[in-house]
Amino acid sequence: PSKAAELVATKRVLIIAHRGASAHAPENTIPAFEAALKTKCDLIELDYYHSKDSVPVVFHDKVLDRTSNSVAKLGIAKIGIGDLTAKELQTLEAGQWFKPPFPGAKIPTLVEALDVIQNGGKTLIERKGGDAATVVKLLDEKQLRGNVVVQAFDWKYIAECHKLAPDLVLGCLGSEELSAKRIAAAKAAGATAIGWRHGDLNEAGIASVHAAGLKCWAYTVNDRRRAKYLIEAGIDGLITDDPANMQGLLELL
Ligand code: G3P
Ligand code: CA
Repeated sequence: PSKAAELVATKRVLIIAHRGASAHAPENTIPAFEAALKTKCDLIELDYYHSKDSVPVVFHDKVLDRTSNSVAKLGIAKIGIGDLTAKELQTLEAGQWFKPPFPGAKIPTLVEALDVIQNGGKTLIERKGGDAATVVKLLDEKQLRGNVVVQAFDWKYIAECHKLAPDLVLGCLGSEELSAKRIAAAKAAGATAIGWRHGDLNEAGIASVHAAGLKCWAYTVNDRRRAKYLIEAGIDGLITDDPANMQGLLELL
């Protein structure tokens, strides 16, 4: 098995930094990934789309307004991440909105983010937009296929990744009812893990994911009491904005 497969198979509860250590630095920027690396958490999650010129770039929202200075700089609201080239996107500030502001933080390309995270950590790549073939090719070029996990809410994309790269560790994201049918569909798509909205998870749901032979992760858990409940209910991974806080909880249990 690959290193990523071994990591996901461990019995420990994995701590996964959501958009980096996004409680302490602007989400999906290099400072947030560096802050997460310092915690030695198990995985560092990020989101990506394709830019106008088809470069995978790391950003959460479909439009630039909330976490960049696009409106102030360009004077237009609701510009999409896919409306600008990667070069144009990188003229924007991506950390000035944060409290405290992080001047100079840019929108990383997926390659830039991987170069930072994989130097000591492992990436949980969430696809928000873009095709499977591009990401598989990129991971192969960087020889990272066995060292990352790829997840998406779009399970057709996951199935496509699985077809192109059967050894790639994959996760299916979702929310609301965790029915046997949906669990079976995630498994059929080639997923090893299911990542579910934590408010829609309970002990029975987690047990049914396990019964299908899959791991169950919860997003986005920042409250220690909720995390403790999920751990007691059998959760395998906690996706959190503050990995150090959740590591502190694990030490207490
Ligand atoms: O890791 C899963 C979680 O990140 C999904 O929700 O909106 O934060 O990408 P979102
Ligand atoms: Ca995400």
